[in-house]
Amino acid sequence: MAKDTLTVTDNRTGKTFELDIADGSIRAMDFRQMKISDDDFGLLVYDPSLLNTASCKSSVTYIDGDKGILRYRGYPIEELAEHSSYMETAYLIVKGELPDEQHLNDWSYNITMHTMVHQNIEKFMDGFRYDAHPMGMLVSTCAALSTFYPDAKEIFDVESRRLQARRLLGKMPTLAALAYRHSLGLPYVLPDNDLSYAGNFLSMMFKMTEQKFQPKPAFERALDVLFILHADHEQNCSANAARAVGSSQVDPYSAIASATAALYGPLHGGANEAVINMLNEIQSVDRIPEFIEGVKKGEAKLMGFGHRIYKNYDPRARIIQEIAHDVFEETGKNPLIDIAKELERIALGDDYFIERKLYPNVDFYSGIIYQAMGFPVSMFPVLFAIGRTSGWLAQWSEMVTDEEQKITRPRQLYLGEDIRHYLPIYKRPEPMTKERRLLLERL
Ligand code: SDX
Repeated sequence: MAKDTLTVTDNRTGKTFELDIADGSIRAMDFRQMKISDDDFGLLVYDPSLLNTASCKSSVTYIDGDKGILRYRGYPIEELAEHSSYMETAYLIVKGELPDEQHLNDWSYNITMHTMVHQNIEKFMDGFRYDAHPMGMLVSTCAALSTFYPDAKEIFDVESRRLQARRLLGKMPTLAALAYRHSLGLPYVLPDNDLSYAGNFLSMMFKMTEQKFQPKPAFERALDVLFILHADHEQNCSANAARAVGSSQVDPYSAIASATAALYGPLHGGANEAVINMLNEIQSVDRIPEFIEGVKKGEAKLMGFGHRIYKNYDPRARIIQEIAHDVFEETGKNPLIDIAKELERIALGDDYFIERKLYPNVDFYSGIIYQAMGFPVSMFPVLFAIGRTSGWLAQWSEMVTDEEQKITRPRQLYLGEDIRHYLPIYKRPEPMTKERRLLLERL
């Protein structure tokens, strides 16, 4: 009868080991018993960039990359995007269940009551150069929040975790809008508690001299759905950062500032900014074949395409295309959409992309919508961070409450020099070896 075990024979010693298989995995620590001598450390498992390593057990988000499936706490992203709101989805992701009406109202109210930031945060914003990237401002001021809420260090107190979650969900849009207003030299706009989560963010971003900002319903709904689509994505680079940094038992503001820093990268949250720059560089549909040839030669990446997990169409990309239609009804079509659609059509028919299972991901179309709504390109990853704050909070608190988790401290395969002793400068060998020179050129 088949057993849930793996039998491993270490051919160096002829010894055989039987490892348990649980949840489709084996425990890396089970390889440490495989030694060639008593003082041998035992076998490590080598997995650069954690391509095939489960770093945790999680119940937040399920992705099937081959089938293009994405579910938050079991609910398909398509159903949440169609029927839910970001406040309700954030509750689901953080708390694990969809709320009843009373809990949703309380949750929304409590977050709304935390949209203001300490006045000193505005002084931090004033300290940045006029051309500072808003993601740099968001990372810095999110970390700065930890200095205003020392109670956040009580990470094992569930009420403290809940309070910090409300504060972060309430304040990330405010920090984002402050960064934008600073970059334009515009006065900061106070939160408007009468508006929805997305509506208030639009008000803090775009309110000018009118008494009360009236968000366009199409923009409010589009932004709310985009926040839903970006709310979590299991163990992506930034969630991993939140978990790893959080595992030192630092406060959640610092852990989520580190996640925001990870999202800043062009291969992660910076991709939608890079997509717009790429489409602008292509300029017209008839220049697409030339660009595609450059990608196939390795001269450029097709930004917004490809994914570590999705080897099929990112379900979020499909939903975002539908949102684009509603926004363009209001703004008129963003001409870049024609280049993007033709680029997608050509790429999906080209063996280079087919063989590598490269499909549009969440970032391929989102930037086109943001641009049509009036957001500058530099704000695109900031919008991503606002939505993803709910996922980072869920992943962080799951790590904090997981008894199996310790401080993250991976091992390494040391391939450096064996022991060698210090020589005074006049005794050092000449000429410098080729290897040393190559190493110094890289450091
Ligand atoms: C997000 O992890 C998440 O969940 C992230 C995210 C989330 O919600 O948190 O989904 C959000 O970050 C989406 C991804 C946004 N980034 C981009 O769109 C940047 C462009 N994409 C690539 O850089 C790349 O596809 C990654 C980084 C997204 C995925 O990298 P992988 O899985 O390590 O892919 P790979 O480098 O192993 O690619 C396999 C092959 C390689 O070619 P060969 O070496 O086999 O010849 O495909 C090629 C890559 O060069 N390739 C691409 C490509 N992506 C991969 N070639 C051209 N254009 C691309 N975009």
